Amino acid sequence: MRFLVLGGTAWLGHRIAATALERGHDVTCLARGSAVPDGAELVVADRDDPRELPLPAGAHWDVVVDVARQPGHVRRAVRELRSRSGRYVFVSTGNVYASQSDEGADETAKLLPALVADSFTDPDHYGPAKVACESAVLAAFGSGRSLIARAGLIGGPGDPTGRTDYWPRRFARETAGDSISGGPVLVPDAPDLPTALIDVRDLADWLVRAAEAGTAGVFNAGGTPVPFPAHLDAARAAARAVTRSTAPTVVAAERWLLDRGVSEWAGPRSLPLWVSDRSWYGMNARSSAAARAAGLTVRPLEDTLRDAALAHESDSPFPGGAGLAPAHEHDLVVELETARESPPAAPQ
Ligand SMILES: NC(=O)c1ccc[n+]([C@@H]2O[C@H](COP(=O)([O-])OP(=O)(O)OC[C@H]3O[C@@H](n4cnc5c(N)ncnc54)[C@H](OP(=O)(O)O)[C@@H]3O)[C@@H](O)[C@H]2O)c1
Repeated sequence: MRFLVLGGTAWLGHRIAATALERGHDVTCLARGSAVPDGAELVVADRDDPRELPLPAGAHWDVVVDVARQPGHVRRAVRELRSRSGRYVFVSTGNVYASQSDEGADETAKLLPALVADSFTDPDHYGPAKVACESAVLAAFGSGRSLIARAGLIGGPGDPTGRTDYWPRRFARETAGDSISGGPVLVPDAPDLPTALIDVRDLADWLVRAAEAGTAGVFNAGGTPVPFPAHLDAARAAARAVTRSTAPTVVAAERWLLDRGVSEWAGPRSLPLWVSDRSWYGMNARSSAAARAAGLTVRPLEDTLRDAALAHESDSPFPGGAGLAPAHEHDLVVELETARESPPAAPQ
């Protein structure tokens, strides 16, 4: 088959293009950069340029795969490619949904209103922008020639956010030899927080196979939801593939962490993947039953975490600056343990 990947230079798009090549397909990637997999044809183009995409004249594709975020990129692409491609696979997101609170919600859940503008910069417009992208794909290709994959949190080797490798690498750090960096692991007390990572390799594999099979429809494509402590257990088990012993944990109340400026979810000073707001507990607990029925298979979480950890030198910084710096984490653990050893005297 002939695949046109709009993208292909970043994490998921690159993996999709590589998977399609591995499965014997012809692949063309269109992007501004050049870091596409070996064997892919590259068309360098800026989709912000309102002129027609500089694709080879007369070329047709069996499937277009698009990872865009900007509605204008998708609106132009579907207009130009409607008659030049058999099918359109669009990588969307669970952020399209109006509510993130309902655990187990399926694809019929209410969506956010679509962004009218062609482009956005405010991160709050990401969900509405993806809704607009989905609408453009469905309007041009119809439900029979399109596949919309609403990806859940993507993880695995190469995660540019550090969310996947933080916990296994942190558990593995005990043997680093210095008591500060290898001390106890500070974790949030979040026993009911659902977490679900879909391995980038599993998602890419399914998208390519679904394109081959002509699968059409709208699908949530997420990993298997597990409570946060089970995610930490898998991270600890994954760490054992990296080092022989793993660090113990120190559990901190969410309010205590927030009061000390520890961030949630991602980025510097964070405990990655932690979410304290219960109204977001459904985000990583959507039903992906329809995608599973349509052939999506996922590897064990421990394998994803292990491979993500092994993709880095043990002492290299976390991607995206994710996590707590060792000295900061050490100070927090000392403060917490000291308070526990000498609780404030009860009022007389
Ligand atoms: N990370 C997650 O947990 C998560 C969760 C749910 C859904 N998603 C979705 O998963 C996808 C991730 O895709 P990804 O990792 O391949 O990509 P990405 O980081 O979103 O990068 C976008 C791709 O589009 C290209 N691009 C961006 N602007 C362009 C322009 N003006 N002209 C031409 N090409 C342009 C980029 O290439 P150049 O920069 O080289 O041009 C790049 O290849 C996205 O659709 C995202 O919304 C992610």
